[in-house]
Amino acid sequence: MNTTRVAFIGAGNMAHSLIGGLVADGWSPAGISVSDPDKQRLGAVASRFQVHTDTDNQQVTGNSDVVVLAVKPQLLREVATGLAPVVQKQRPLVISVAAGIRSADVDRWLGGDCALVRCMPNTPALVQSGATALYATPSVSAGRRDLAESILRAVGLALWVEDEDLMDAVTALSGSGPAYFFLVIEALEEAGQALGLPAKTARLLALQTAFGAAKMALESSDDVALLRQRVTSPGGTTEKALTVLESGRLRALFHDAMSAARDRSRELASQFGAD
Ligand SMILES: NC(=O)c1ccc[n+]([C@@H]2O[C@H](COP(=O)([O-])OP(=O)(O)OC[C@H]3O[C@@H](n4cnc5c(N)ncnc54)[C@H](OP(=O)(O)O)[C@@H]3O)[C@@H](O)[C@H]2O)c1
Repeated sequence: MNTTRVAFIGAGNMAHSLIGGLVADGWSPAGISVSDPDKQRLGAVASRFQVHTDTDNQQVTGNSDVVVLAVKPQLLREVATGLAPVVQKQRPLVISVAAGIRSADVDRWLGGDCALVRCMPNTPALVQSGATALYATPSVSAGRRDLAESILRAVGLALWVEDEDLMDAVTALSGSGPAYFFLVIEALEEAGQALGLPAKTARLLALQTAFGAAKMALESSDDVALLRQRVTSPGGTTEKALTVLESGRLRALFHDAMSAARDRSRELASQFGAD
């Protein structure tokens, strides 16, 4: 059983998911603390996972080896500034899951020179199927990188990026990505209904096909282009459909959509981090 003491600042959706993943992975609930101003929310997390709770952020941080900042991005400056004295004294590993906030801004708010890992999880983390990119500032040791990775792996895939600027591309791909797939599934459902399928049948066929395609691709050593070619017989139905999608500039549309998301991510980071 892992005995590292972890504090979560903010008892919202992301903290719930991470705590659930850690406990399922065998981490001791006795080593997990959570703080939030909302006592009802703390009560819910305590009764579900038997973790320690407190309304005082400094108190839980002062007793921990790792602090996970899990508040909304617009609140992070205020929360981090409030934690600066205890972080400077205690020197925990700090993990920020706040979307779009640059590590240099979090580090400055925490008083500087922190061992800081910035993460970009996505919403499927809520069902332990997330995709998270992590970036570590230079002062994070190899052992602490492993620790951060093991925490984020509790809710799905966790991959490192070595250049923080790439976090905007990550946001455009996996951060916003679930919505792209929801849109595609929605479109398949609507088109299936237009072709005469009952709504429920269209919905379940679309969802299971999305799940099955992703599962098959994840489990295969072949790349997705090859998997696509294998299910596209010359002169068949799939080939007809793919010709329509390609001539509708589907790839270029995704390129444009993700560039727009990446640019917006940069703008938001500058806005949140501005002095
Ligand atoms: N949910 C996701 O799938 C997802 C994906 C990627 C990144 N993230 C990041 O994860 C972070 C948390 O997101 P979330 O979805 O878990 O948000 P959330 O459900 O709103 O949780 C945030 C929690 O922090 C509490 N809080 C507010 N002020 C606080 C303070 N001063 N000290 C301690 N706690 C405070 C909030 O309470 P109140 O509600 O009372 O304000 C709320 O319970 C965000 O920065 C977000 O960008 C989330």
